[in-house]
Amino acid sequence: MQTPKSNPLYDIIILGASGFTGKYVVKEALKFLNTPSSPLKTLALAGRSHEKLTKTLRWAAHPISPTPDVSVIIADTTDPPSLLSLCNQTKLLLNCVGPYRIHGDPVVSACASSGCDYLDITGEPEFMEKMEAKYHEKAVETGSLIVSACGFDSIPAEMGVMFNTRQWEAPAVPNHVTAYVSLESDRNIVGNFATYESAVLGVANMDKLQEFRRSRPRKPRPVIPGPRPLPHTGPMIEYQDEIGLRAVKLPSADAVIVRRTLVTLMENPSGLPGMNESPEHTEKREAYWSSVKPAHFGIKIASKTLLGIYRIIGVGIFIGLLSRMSFGRWLLLKFPSFFSLGWFRKTGPSEEEVRSSSFKMWFVGNGFSDCSLASKTNSKPDMQIITRVMGPEIGYVTTPISLIQCAFVVLSQRENLPKGGVYTPGIVFGPDLQEGLQENGVSFDIVSKTALRGPTAA
Ligand SMILES: NC(=O)c1ccc[n+]([C@@H]2O[C@H](COP(=O)([O-])OP(=O)(O)OC[C@H]3O[C@@H](n4cnc5c(N)ncnc54)[C@H](OP(=O)(O)O)[C@@H]3O)[C@@H](O)[C@H]2O)c1
Repeated sequence: MQTPKSNPLYDIIILGASGFTGKYVVKEALKFLNTPSSPLKTLALAGRSHEKLTKTLRWAAHPISPTPDVSVIIADTTDPPSLLSLCNQTKLLLNCVGPYRIHGDPVVSACASSGCDYLDITGEPEFMEKMEAKYHEKAVETGSLIVSACGFDSIPAEMGVMFNTRQWEAPAVPNHVTAYVSLESDRNIVGNFATYESAVLGVANMDKLQEFRRSRPRKPRPVIPGPRPLPHTGPMIEYQDEIGLRAVKLPSADAVIVRRTLVTLMENPSGLPGMNESPEHTEKREAYWSSVKPAHFGIKIASKTLLGIYRIIGVGIFIGLLSRMSFGRWLLLKFPSFFSLGWFRKTGPSEEEVRSSSFKMWFVGNGFSDCSLASKTNSKPDMQIITRVMGPEIGYVTTPISLIQCAFVVLSQRENLPKGGVYTPGIVFGPDLQEGLQENGVSFDIVSKTALRGPTAA
């Protein structure tokens, strides 16, 4: 075990800062560097190329002049000593190097062994679950807080489902919440290649993930009042009346992460105690988690038009079929724009395309106006609460906002957070994150609370 650093030079080091997402994370961080109430006083950028990092800093700082005092450090994920050196210089490492299944393990390993805190923006379930299995014990021991999925995957989903379930006032209880994500733009909706590559490799390795899950001890399911929604019922394309959108299932990491948060919550009904928590924070944490209710959760991608839905299905079919064969994977990765029908580009979106995009995520929660109804035979939900999370472009604006706001909770509330371990973002940041997101352009609102027609019990 490394000797814990007593006074690290930097509050945050951003690793992979020269990447497409990394540079937007740097831009977001610079908004707060050394501003009066910000916990971010010292920042460094890390990566393989000094020249690229310096260029990133100039781009991200524009039009601030002179360029802010930010250090540049050379590090490579294939060079473990360079990663340990980063860990020894910072309180918190933000890892923007992906695909994480290729590059992530050595970074998590360095943080877990050195006691450095770590956040990332992966949306790759296999990576996250393997890191938890491999490094949780070590991270608890060294006091390294390791939280993946602090970007669009899966902050809006985690915070959004908790926001929805908190609107159910006793004796009402939710049973299931479905999120409908709709991406909007006056121009094109485009993602960078690395996200597409991560998705292709994720689908290609689906069997390995299932095998890994089977090899792990089974965790108890959260206890949710009422019947379990039957899987695979209803049409493949759903028309969602209340929000006026068509939708299909989205195989993203969100549902898995929400479930992992609920499992941890079941084991720790008042959330995770902080390592040296203030009495005010204990009260806040206990009040927050007592108001969150477990619910089944699923996520769908939505569109106003049938054509939009056919396009999503088309891309799903290409990736689903071709990613299983090595030649198919080669084709998918060689021609991303063609096989994603224009949604992913090797050069990523233009600044204008990023600026003109936004998202809405609707959470349609169905449940019971009285929890006693939930236990009756053949009971059906008789109440619906719809909430919504909205924000700017998902990959390069909402993701940096989410990551930086999670980072600020770590910097400003470290004593109120668990000493160490590998966790999902919801269980660590739940009580403290929503306000920061709201102040920075991600909104949470209640759309409707209605009684559903029809009998509540047969
Ligand atoms: N959760 C979300 O919603 C969300 C949103 C956006 C992105 N992401 C994820 O973020 C990851 C990055 O995406 P991106 O589009 O920014 O990718 P990118 O443009 O390819 O950037 C990758 C970065 O990693 C660096 N890198 C590559 N290999 C490295 C190594 N061996 N050692 C150190 N640094 C290395 C690159 O450095 P060089 O400049 O030296 O090549 C670059 O800075 C992907 O996994 C993506 O899926 C998630």
